[in-house]
Order: sequence, then C-alpha cells, then structure tokens
Amino acid sequence: MNSEIKPLIAGNWKMNGLTEDLSQIRSLALSLRNDPAHRCEVLICPPVTLLAQTTQICLSGAVVSGAQNCHIAQKGAHTGDIGASMLADAGAQYIIVGHSERRADHGETDGLVNAKARAALGAHVTPIICVGETHAERLGALAMTVVEKQLNGSVPALEIFDKRVIAKNLVIAYEPVWAIGTGLVPELDDIKTMHAAIRDWLVERFGEEGEGVRILYGGSMKPSNATDILATANVNGGLIGGASLNAEDFLQIIRSACD
Ligand code: PGA
Repeated sequence: MNSEIKPLIAGNWKMNGLTEDLSQIRSLALSLRNDPAHRCEVLICPPVTLLAQTTQICLSGAVVSGAQNCHIAQKGAHTGDIGASMLADAGAQYIIVGHSERRADHGETDGLVNAKARAALGAHVTPIICVGETHAERLGALAMTVVEKQLNGSVPALEIFDKRVIAKNLVIAYEPVWAIGTGLVPELDDIKTMHAAIRDWLVERFGEEGEGVRILYGGSMKPSNATDILATANVNGGLIGGASLNAEDFLQIIRSACD
C-alpha cells in the first residue's frame, strides 16, 4: 500500500442490519479504541435506518459512518428518497454511489452516478464512486475499457471540486461485479493492473492531486485474502460487504491494513 495515503477500510452492510446488530458496531468501536486504527480510517455504511445510531456509537471510537446511496437533489418532492444533506445531518461522512447492485437493480447510469456524486459533494460528504466489470466483460478482455468508460461518465469534472483537496473529497472503489458476494477474487496481478490504470486515469483527470485519491478494492475481501490484496500497489483500502457484518472478521481485515 502507498504509505503516504491513509488507507480506508469501509464496511458496506447493504440491506442488512436491525437494531440488535448495532452490537457489532459497538464491539468494533470498542476494540479500535486501543488498536492502531489511526493508521487507517475505518468506515461503516449501515442501512439508513441505523445511520444516526451508528454515528452516535462511532463517536466513541475510531470509526466513522456513511451511507450507501443518495438522491441527486438535496430535498424536495421525492417520496421515499433521501438527500445527501439529510445523510450528512445523520452523520454520514461518505456516501457510496454507483454500487453495481444499484446500477443493476435500479438501472443507474454513469450520468446518474455522476449527479449523485455531485450531490454528495454539495453536502460536503465524500462520494465513494464504484466501478467494475462483469464476468463476461472480463472474459472478453473488456474490463479496462468498461472501467474507463465508467470513470469518464461517473466521476465529476475537476471544476466541481471547486478548490477542494481532491484526495479528501473523492474515493474510487474498483469492484469487479463477478467478485461481489461470490467468494471469487481476481488474481493479484489483475488487481494491480486495474488499480494502476485507475491511478493513471486519476492523474490524467486531476493532475498531481490524482496521486492522493484512495482507490479501494471490493469483492469477496475477507480475513484470509485481505493482507495480500491490501499489500498490492495502488490498493489504498477495501470496500467490504459480507465480512463487515461481523466485528471480528472486519477487525481482522482492518488489522491487515493497519498493522
Ligand atoms: P462482498 O461485497 O465483500 O460481500 O463481496 C462487496 C461490496 O459489494 O461492496
């Protein structure tokens, strides 16, 4: 991992978690109080129903809270939707946008993801923009082309950042769709190649500032493979689904990044 970039280990709880499951977050926050977690940033994105409570719990430990989606508007007549400023009000410091499950289940396009990322920035919340190819695209040697197209369409233009430090206001997550929740992970060399290509893209778009943007890997990261993945060049943390639901597993992954 690039030692100049503080790694981000992010848990994406997806549509999982009831009040009783907050005990996992309590236990995580408690463990991290005396852990070397300051060497990395730890984030939990629970379902929005648990966001405010998660924020409260996180205040006592070295953990921050985030959200999994937002609307493109901050407020208005959009029944059932939630604006980025409302998520910020509930304590979210990050918002995941363009996760492949939303792209697939809700037909989210690159243009919409871009608008959501801009909405997050408008609420002073850092967007975590997800990109990644399907299995068919990987087999067809199209992974790079697909990811580049997603980056071109989903990442807001330089002007949108309005003199903000890009590295603090943007995170990219490379999540091969076929690796999410399947137990499959790409070869380390493939992760390295893709992350290097994303870094090149960031530098081309943002100049030197692109060097500091965190690029997370996501897709079946677990305690048994985290050390190797997180040691790969240009992997600056992880976006973890299943293994973030259990405090003990998540802690092991955090320790792989921070120890
Ligand atoms: P997974 O999910 O770790 O369960 O594969 C990752 C993600 O979808 O963010």
